[in-house]
Amino acid sequence: MTEVKKVKSILYVEDEKAIQEELAEVIETFCETLYTADDGIQALKYFDAYKPDIIITDIRMPIMDGIEMCKKIKEKNQNIPIIFTTAFSDVDYFQDAIELQVEGYLLKPISLELLEKKILNIIDNIELKKELFEKEQMLLQSSKLAAIGEMLSNIAHQWRQPLSAISTTATGMKLLKEMDNLPDEQFYKNCDVINDNTQYLSNTIEDFKNFFSPKNQLKVFNLHEYLNKCIDLVSASFDNNLIKTVKEIDEKINSFGDPNQLLQAIINILNNAKDALKDASTLHEKLVFIFTVKEDKDNHIVITIKDNAGGIPENILPKIFEPYFTTKGSKHGTGLGLYITHTIITKNLKGTIKVENEIFEYEEKSYKGAKFTITLPMIK
Ligand SMILES: Nc1ncnc2c1ncn2[C@@H]1O[C@H](COP(=O)(O)OP(=O)(O)OP(=O)(O)O)[C@@H](O)[C@H]1O
Ligand SMILES: [Mg+2]
Repeated sequence: MTEVKKVKSILYVEDEKAIQEELAEVIETFCETLYTADDGIQALKYFDAYKPDIIITDIRMPIMDGIEMCKKIKEKNQNIPIIFTTAFSDVDYFQDAIELQVEGYLLKPISLELLEKKILNIIDNIELKKELFEKEQMLLQSSKLAAIGEMLSNIAHQWRQPLSAISTTATGMKLLKEMDNLPDEQFYKNCDVINDNTQYLSNTIEDFKNFFSPKNQLKVFNLHEYLNKCIDLVSASFDNNLIKTVKEIDEKINSFGDPNQLLQAIINILNNAKDALKDASTLHEKLVFIFTVKEDKDNHIVITIKDNAGGIPENILPKIFEPYFTTKGSKHGTGLGLYITHTIITKNLKGTIKVENEIFEYEEKSYKGAKFTITLPMIK
């Protein structure tokens, strides 16, 4: 016998005891635990306490009806699957029920066959969503691995300067000491230089460690700080390719989410700009612009990133966020960069992202390039 698919828990709300008992017997076979409630208020309590995977509820009930209860539940979890069981006499509620966009409506007397079908359908959907989520997490992880190589070269670059400052200062001091010519003031100043530089080295290590940590750290973060980190992290490859960054970043904007994911999303865009500019050999100046603007009325932050590499061919513009779409050949690109960026921005950070080509002026010259516009919810 094939095993029946189950979820962890289902909440079933029905005020008529006889119906409740009859249906509970069926519903029970689709979950490890079934919670039954007699009215909306009790159901809300159970919802908060047990976080069920599915809700099946009558509409007309005492104390709080099913519609009002579901409105409250949807405010807390918009994606929770709900099935209404309704009687013809509930016709007054139908419009409200439809507006709630629930997974299904079953007319009383309930056909057990239909109920089973509906529940199985929902369980399939939940499993599919879970699989998709796991797949996305895996992609995110693998694209992180792909970024490691690039990051290592960035560490090497970022460290060269402070390491050389430390070594020069220490050798200089040793020499002065040997010549018996090291005034106290100079000694303390040099110690500070060495200290500042080691501090910087340890901070960069912290940044990289956070970047690669698999845990999501949800928090309020300062956008300015993280955009600057992004620029730091790509600075080695930008310098090597003579790319200049022009930035206008508001220092006071805060957003919410996992800042390391935003870091990854932005770095993917910056790396693409670098690749495009690398190939644009006729440009006398290679530029990447990063701007932020607050849109107080919509409570949004807008981040704009554009380059002057000539833009993205119009025929591929609609495809660039698709997974595995690349024009770089499998040796140079996985085609996952912008897909990951899109996933992070829209799903994880609850923002939006769009792309277009733009012709613009900079220092009295006209340029064309790809422009990415990201909006993120703003935290005051
Ligand atoms: N700034 C840009 N200018 C021109 N073309 C771009 C730009 N950004 C993206 N593209 C195009 O979009 C395609 C998809 O980008 P995406 O980052 O998803 O993958 P990729 O860069 O090819 O590979 P990778 O997964 O290694 O990042 C690129 O292959 C390129 O053709
Ligand atoms: Mg890319």
